[in-house]
Amino acid sequence: MTVVTCIEDLRVLAQRRVPRMFYDYADSGSWSESTYRANGADLEAIKFRQRVAVDMDGRTLRTTMLGEPVAMPVALAPVGLTGMQRGDGEILAARAAEKFGVPFTLSTMSICSIEDVAASVTKPFWFQLYVMRDRDFVGRLIDRAKAARCSALVLTLDLQILGQRHKDLKNGLSTPPKLTLANIANMATKPRWCWAMLQTRRREFGNIVGHVAGIDDMSSLSEWTARQFDPKLSWDDVAWIKDRWGGKLVLKGIMDAEDAHRAVASGADALIVSNHGGRQLDGTPSTAAALPAIVDAVGDRMTVLADGGVRSGLDVARMLALGAKGVLIGRAWAYALSASGEAGVAHVLRLIEEEMRVAMALTGCTRVRDISREMLVRSS
Ligand code: GLV
Repeated sequence: MTVVTCIEDLRVLAQRRVPRMFYDYADSGSWSESTYRANGADLEAIKFRQRVAVDMDGRTLRTTMLGEPVAMPVALAPVGLTGMQRGDGEILAARAAEKFGVPFTLSTMSICSIEDVAASVTKPFWFQLYVMRDRDFVGRLIDRAKAARCSALVLTLDLQILGQRHKDLKNGLSTPPKLTLANIANMATKPRWCWAMLQTRRREFGNIVGHVAGIDDMSSLSEWTARQFDPKLSWDDVAWIKDRWGGKLVLKGIMDAEDAHRAVASGADALIVSNHGGRQLDGTPSTAAALPAIVDAVGDRMTVLADGGVRSGLDVARMLALGAKGVLIGRAWAYALSASGEAGVAHVLRLIEEEMRVAMALTGCTRVRDISREMLVRSS
């Protein structure tokens, strides 16, 4: 029995338990994966100022994110295809997040649909939107998220075309997987995964299949994205989407201070400093490197959240210290889900919480709002 003490343990288990094409999908960055690696490496290089003899009694991680009370300032990022990491994966993760008291974000490219997830939880979750060429479909997706009482719409701005992930092409990524000899042989070595998949009928993109006329072949994800995602997406679209949605709007994928100013001007409620986990433009700086300038550009005009490379509670504390008001984890929960389903996602949240408690104690912070750049060793 493996004792899981860190997110790396969950990654190793995920690799063992999930068919190669789905593990690789979650684990890959685009092209040389330099940005993917930089996200983790730059965070890890940030050093804390250790402070001692500060009364650490009564520490709490409780705070708010987008006005909602949360157990800690961490949300589950939208991750595509998580219902292929484990049967009904999005439902399991949403339940774990709800029980823990942090927001769950459902991806447009999920397997379980908005309605499936809404029927499985009692509190609102966040919905992530990709903008397709078919604007009627996008409008209907927004309406469905509204009808499901989603509490925030997370509009992703950095994936109108797909950064190439070599392994997805080599593996022939598709959902459901094609029943080739190689795939069958690989799946046969993953009994837990097969068992969970046999318990569910959800194996296609639940938000899309059956909701768009003429969408029958989604077998090649990269080709499908190239055909359906709208390369014309612009700031004007942000305006109509904001109008149609009418609720809290979060803009995901901001890496540049000029775009942060545009985001403020759009009237959205928050932005997420994100390079899509190093999955899009390989060669961008890490999010840890980009975050401080964006926080400074935005000031208190908008909430700044961040993601990218977060593999521990210490990394969450680092992002908060750089100025983020909340942090999204992506691969961390995807690995946990692949490793152990709902219990895995609950476990990863507990690991992060515990590490944050220790980080706060030894840097002399008792509340999330005490966390600031003062907590970090200055680099020059
Ligand atoms: C988005 O859906 C991705 O694959 O990064």
